[in-house]
Amino acid sequence: MRILLLGGTAEARALAAGLDGAGLPFESSLAGRVSRPRLPVGDVRTGGFGGAEGLARYIDHRGVTHVVDATHPFAVTMSAHAVEAGLETGVPVLRLARPGWAGRPDASSWHWVSTLDEMRTTAERLGSRPFVTTGRQTLWAFESWSGRDVLVRVVDPLTGAAPDRWTVLEDRGPYAAADERELLSQHRIDVLLTKDSGGSYTCAKLGAAGELGIPVVVLRRPPTQGLGKVAGLRL
Ligand SMILES: NC(=O)c1ccc[n+]([C@@H]2O[C@H](COP(=O)([O-])OP(=O)(O)OC[C@H]3O[C@@H](n4cnc5c(N)ncnc54)[C@H](OP(=O)(O)O)[C@@H]3O)[C@@H](O)[C@H]2O)c1
Repeated sequence: MRILLLGGTAEARALAAGLDGAGLPFESSLAGRVSRPRLPVGDVRTGGFGGAEGLARYIDHRGVTHVVDATHPFAVTMSAHAVEAGLETGVPVLRLARPGWAGRPDASSWHWVSTLDEMRTTAERLGSRPFVTTGRQTLWAFESWSGRDVLVRVVDPLTGAAPDRWTVLEDRGPYAAADERELLSQHRIDVLLTKDSGGSYTCAKLGAAGELGIPVVVLRRPPTQGLGKVAGLRL
């Protein structure tokens, strides 16, 4: 047995610790986007494989017998490649995805959207001082807000300069409820934008927004039905 664990998440690190404890041979894989990643225990490789074909070659060359896709729920390209490479090589692919936040009691009060464009227009209706927590890769969708006071939180520095009126915080969870309340109040935030990332690291902002009566716009998870159809699996 040799497991390839596609990671970049807290769940992948927890699984790596479990596999290590069980004495199973595995290697974690990280995309290499984050400059100071939290590293899992065990062997780690970093960087893309070169598409689904590259991943299939990697699986063959390294004698991988099982792939666990424990990437972030919004890392759709990597997940699709894992399924394709699994079909190509005949190696089983297990998807480990943390539950989203839709089951929370306050989820029905949020504004659920399916695209970043819809997110922007919905947020524009709800407020004028947004807190954008959807990640560096989504900021292009909010370019038209360059003349507004926008609070942005990202893990890694932006590659280009942010508009003058934007405040960019570089930070990563876990966050405490009291700190999130303080941050929202201090910046007079009147609308919160988030992905349905799930998990506990970044969920404190949701409770804080609820307590302060700040509307929340949530980007739904990308559909996985297509993947299931391709693989003949239920995901
Ligand atoms: N998207 C998010 O909001 C988010 C949040 C937290 C953490 N992450 C983590 O950050 C990583 C990148 O996310 P993303 O949204 O940019 O992914 P993505 O758009 O689905 O992937 C883009 C490309 O990055 C490479 N890649 C992604 N994950 C990889 C991994 N674990 N190991 C090796 N190569 C990987 C692959 O390149 P090749 O095609 O060359 O193989 C993939 O095609 C993921 O590992 C994910 O778990 C993402």
